[in-house]
Amino acid sequence: MKRPIIVAAVLLFAAACTGDKKADDNNKQPVTAPPAQSAPPPAPAPSVAPTPIATAVARVYEIPDESKKVFTQRCALCHGKGGMGDGAGGRGMKPPPQNWTDPAWGALVTDEQIATAIVKGGAGVGKSSTMPPNPDLEGGFKQPVVDGLVHMVRSFAAAAAPSATPSAAPSTAPAATHP
Ligand code: HEC
Repeated sequence: MKRPIIVAAVLLFAAACTGDKKADDNNKQPVTAPPAQSAPPPAPAPSVAPTPIATAVARVYEIPDESKKVFTQRCALCHGKGGMGDGAGGRGMKPPPQNWTDPAWGALVTDEQIATAIVKGGAGVGKSSTMPPNPDLEGGFKQPVVDGLVHMVRSFAAAAAPSATPSAAPSTAPAATHP
C-alpha cells in the first residue's frame, strides 16, 4: 500500500511546517523524501495543457455573493429576474426600468455609467430618478460589490446576444420566396 506512506509523509511535512520554525531552520530539512517508487509516472499532459489554463483564466473573476444578494433583494424587483425591465415593482413606470438585454442600450452604455447609475441612481447619469440610488454601495470598499452588479447587468445582454448574431440564421432563409 503506497497511500498510507504518502499520507504519513504529508502529515510529517505539515507538522514540520507548522511546528517550531526557528528550530527547523537551524537543523536539518525535516522533509523526509517520499519513497521514489510512490511517485506517479510522468503524466502525458502536453496535448491538454490549454484547457486548464483557459479554465483558470475563466475562474479568475467570480461575482461576489453580496452582489448577488443585492441583485435579488433590490434590482430584480424592478428590472426582472431576466433583466428585461419587467419586474413587478417597475410596472407602469415611465420610463420603464431599463431592459438590460436591449443590445442598442448595451452597445452605448459604459461600465462606468452602469456603476454610477447603481450608486447614484438614475439622476446620477441624467436619467429618471425612479431608478433609485444605492448609497450604501458608495465608497471604495464596496467597489467589488458594484463591479459584481455591473457584471451581472452585462451578463443579461451576453445571455441574450447569441440569437442576435447575424451569422447564425441566414443559411435556411431562401425558402421564404413563395410564388
Ligand atoms: C424602483 C425600481 C428600480 C429598482 C429597484 C432598480 N432600478 Fe434600475 N432602473 C429603474 C428605471 C425606471 C430605470 C430607467 C431610468 C431611465 O431610463 O431614465 C433604471 C435604469 C437602470 C440602468 C440604466 C442606466 C443607464 O445609464 O442607462 C441600470 C444599469 C440599472 N437601472 C441598474 C439597476 C441595478 C443594478 C439595480 C439594483 C441595485 C436597480 N437598477 C434597481 C428602476 C429601478
